[in-house]
Amino acid sequence: MSERVIPLIDQRLVSVPARVPSVATAATGLLSDTRGRPLRDLRISVTDRCNFRCSYCMPKSIFDKDYPYLPHSALLSFEEITRVARQFVAHGVQKIRLTGGEPLLRKNLEILIEQLAALRTVEGQPLDITLTTNGSLLTRKANALKASGLQRVTVSLDGLDDTIFRAMNDVDFPVADVLDGIAAAQAAGLGPIKINMVVKRGTNDDQILPMARHFKGSGIVLRFIEYMDVGATNGWRMDEVLPSAEVVQRIHRELPLVQLGASAPGETAERWGYADGTGEIGVISSVTQAFCGDCNRARLSTEGQLYLCLFASQGHDLRQLIRGDATDEQLSSAIASIWQGRGDRYSELRASLPPDAGQGKRRVEMSYIGG
Ligand code: GTP
Ligand code: 5AD
Ligand code: SF4
Ligand code: SF4
Repeated sequence: MSERVIPLIDQRLVSVPARVPSVATAATGLLSDTRGRPLRDLRISVTDRCNFRCSYCMPKSIFDKDYPYLPHSALLSFEEITRVARQFVAHGVQKIRLTGGEPLLRKNLEILIEQLAALRTVEGQPLDITLTTNGSLLTRKANALKASGLQRVTVSLDGLDDTIFRAMNDVDFPVADVLDGIAAAQAAGLGPIKINMVVKRGTNDDQILPMARHFKGSGIVLRFIEYMDVGATNGWRMDEVLPSAEVVQRIHRELPLVQLGASAPGETAERWGYADGTGEIGVISSVTQAFCGDCNRARLSTEGQLYLCLFASQGHDLRQLIRGDATDEQLSSAIASIWQGRGDRYSELRASLPPDAGQGKRRVEMSYIGG
């Protein structure tokens, strides 16, 4: 029998201890990294598991029944997450996104949302709390999520054609159930809802127009994402990337578009509005048009590692501090010094790297740190 190699196992062990600096850094909300980028967006992964097996994220060949997911004791508890989130908020975070894996698989997630919803930004405002989900459990959970203080959801949906969708999630999950989930989220008031569609040339690019037509005029913002070379298991190839410029062209030919300005600094998506005023779409072009220049996103893995970039190969171990005897002030200073040392800008550098620099290399999986 041939031996299977799971690059992620080593990967997850690669972390540097988070150090407490000898001089405390006061949390002023004005932290910036080596490139002058503030800290505004914290993405928290609450589980490394998912009930889908999208080939671009958790290919079945690797994420099979023998895959060593994290044991429960390794996960940060809700109290631990909230404690660390509070420090991030004091450093300027305004938006928290819960991700996974599939975050709705984490038991009692509503309790965590309630705790996070009680936090206030440096300016005394409530946080923007959102969640990225594959939509499979939304029908059941939308109302409870809303009641717990979640403001909105982003649902991943890669096509409307049932055959294509079932093939992309690779667990034969019907598209109708995700559409029901989206409707439930809308009815519960979890808006504005965004839909994320990862476009793979030759796999689901014929779904671009049907998706655009379906969501036009619905109040839901559909965003097209360039297939990225994230992680080390998805066998990424440049020829499967459909540049966003082509997505915009294809839609514009049928449904005229006009470009819109950014709605927030550091935004991932470029916005386009339908010329007839019936809503907008977005394109997220990390491959053809990097947006590292004002990237204000930090990622906290399920087990409390802080990642400074989606393409990072190592995390900073905050759990060790959280479970050790570090005070809040020490935890806060450690976070500050890690962010102040940040220089990551992988997507900007990608173009100058050798073509296969990423694949096979140690690099964290998206199911582990979240999108
Ligand atoms: P909104 O606040 O709702 O606009 O969300 P967002 O765009 O910040 O987050 P979302 O999780 O919806 O991001 C959409 C997709 O963009 C993700 O699934 C990733 O594919 C990609 N993405 C998000 N953040 C980054 C990033 O920092 N770098 C890169 N390269 N891609 C990112
Ligand atoms: N390329 C682009 N986006 C990806 N996602 C996961 N893997 C990839 C990839 N290889 C994003 C998708 C999905 C979210 C959970 O993560 O947007 O909706
Ligand atoms: Fe699960 Fe989302 Fe990854 Fe698909 S993209 S396997 S739904 S976490
Ligand atoms: Fe931010 Fe890294 Fe993405 Fe660039 S590649 S936008 S630095 S997460």
